[in-house]
Amino acid sequence: MSVAIETEGLVRRFGTRTAVNELSFRAEAGEVFGLLGPNGAGKTTLVRLLNGVLKADAGRAHVLGCDPQTQGDALRRRSGVLTETPSIYERLTARQNLHFFGTLYGVPEADLARRTDALLEQFGLHDRADDRAGGFSKGMKQRLALARTLIHQPDILFFDEPTAGLDPEAAQQVTDLIAQYSGADGRTVFLCTHNLDEAGRLCDRVGILNHGRLLAVGKPDDLGRNLWDGQWVDIGLTAPPPAGLDAALMGVAGATQVQIKGAALAVQVRDESVIPAVVSAAAAAGAQILRVTPRAHSLHDIYFKLQAEAEAS
Ligand SMILES: Nc1ncnc2c1ncn2[C@@H]1O[C@H](COP(=O)(O)OP(=O)(O)O)[C@@H](O)[C@H]1O
Ligand SMILES: [Mg+2]
Repeated sequence: MSVAIETEGLVRRFGTRTAVNELSFRAEAGEVFGLLGPNGAGKTTLVRLLNGVLKADAGRAHVLGCDPQTQGDALRRRSGVLTETPSIYERLTARQNLHFFGTLYGVPEADLARRTDALLEQFGLHDRADDRAGGFSKGMKQRLALARTLIHQPDILFFDEPTAGLDPEAAQQVTDLIAQYSGADGRTVFLCTHNLDEAGRLCDRVGILNHGRLLAVGKPDDLGRNLWDGQWVDIGLTAPPPAGLDAALMGVAGATQVQIKGAALAVQVRDESVIPAVVSAAAAAGAQILRVTPRAHSLHDIYFKLQAEAEAS
């Protein structure tokens, strides 16, 4: 896989405040990389650095092989940026907006009308194509803004809190569209959000940011495994557990804890490879097993544990 974004020791200060602090990470081409962090963590500053809109105080960045500081123009022709407040012209119609930005980004005249129509259709704006954007709902404006980021078919998309301030229906539509356009044609997506459900649904890997520092980067499953000792397995039983079940399970090599509450049985194991032995031992001890479910750590669990550790340190 090729690298779409790479930073090393990136720093940006505003006065005495360090908004982005010694940031080093990579995002692969074609992946959806989520940057998660509370307000003020430095997400928007990083997006602006990666697009060459802001200068770094130290460190390096490469995006699609370009240095944003010195090759910002070339880079911006290949990138699309969607911010929380949609940058569209309210006095222009939906179609005129897409034409305007398409022309600005050098979309060939021959392609522009066709691409505009296709985007208006795909984004559910076709029947409002010739209405002024100023009269659109927030969700429609954001969908139009999203269409505008795609008009020049960028290789990388930056979405900075794309669903902030939208109602659940509008947010869902925007998330669905992002899911649809992510990864298509090897396109990379860099998504900043503090909506953990959205991130969990869209992102291949995430970076967790706190006060300008990355606390962790990786696939959510891997982060979960690294943060907690062992793996919990929930074992559902059809009948109350037989006497002596806990002792039988603690006898399994690699089983570290057993909890029994009514018909609910939970076993902590060293790692997933221990699960078959636990199931065999439970069955041998007379347990009537209905289901076995390894417990996954949600992105919520991961995010709050990392943020709490960072605040405590
Ligand atoms: N133009 C600016 N001038 C001064 N301070 C700024 C500016 N932009 C951002 N900051 C500060 O940098 C920090 C990170 O902000 P920002 O990148 O907007 O965070 P986020 O997008 O994660 O909410 C905050 O403390 C913010 O106040
Ligand atoms: Mg921001």
